[in-house]
Amino acid sequence: MSTSNHPDPHVHLVDHPLVQHKLTLMRKKEASTNSFRTLLNEISMLMAYEVTRDMAMQEVEIETPLETMTAKVIDGKKLVFVSILRAGTGILDGMLTIVPGARVGHIGLYRDPKTLQAVEYYFKMPQDMQERDVVVVDPMLATGNSAVAAVTRIKQLQPKSIKFVCLLTCPEGIATLRKAHPDVQIYTAAIDRQLNSHGYILPGLGDAGDRIFGTQ
Ligand code: URA
Repeated sequence: MSTSNHPDPHVHLVDHPLVQHKLTLMRKKEASTNSFRTLLNEISMLMAYEVTRDMAMQEVEIETPLETMTAKVIDGKKLVFVSILRAGTGILDGMLTIVPGARVGHIGLYRDPKTLQAVEYYFKMPQDMQERDVVVVDPMLATGNSAVAAVTRIKQLQPKSIKFVCLLTCPEGIATLRKAHPDVQIYTAAIDRQLNSHGYILPGLGDAGDRIFGTQ
């Protein structure tokens, strides 16, 4: 079982110095699109390490050059990374580098600028979701509305478990996701001060999608 260093045992703050250092570089407004994306990729690999800490393993018999032994392997195929489009793609790549056998699902949600509510426009998951552990990825857990909508939709397919990985969140986002889905473990690199009236995290890093893809 992985440990939480947050008062809420369902919230896992990944405060490793490497993660914190890279996050600080990403936050700077002068960070280029290329370095923002590279840093997010690197942090995602480190987050993958944390989120898979309690993954089930199985034993297989292998032969070393010297003798036969029983050794442990993970079953990457049982794991599904679900990327919330479009910014989730920025985390997905790093996660897949660490767990290349994982399956991938996509959910397309956009945030209605007036209501800040999530509206679904795309949903594609692997088969046999009842047999799989799901890790939902989205860099920003802000209002929590997209995260709640994504998890609600994925739960219809009855996966074995669901975890949520983000880069950055705030108290409002955590409270919203925890209230709607108390069974979901949250992994984040930082919990910032607050949301502003447009649903952006302060101090934050701006619009993650725009910064990943250079669309601003
Ligand atoms: N989405 C972002 O990209 N940034 C925020 O600060 C909040 C939501």
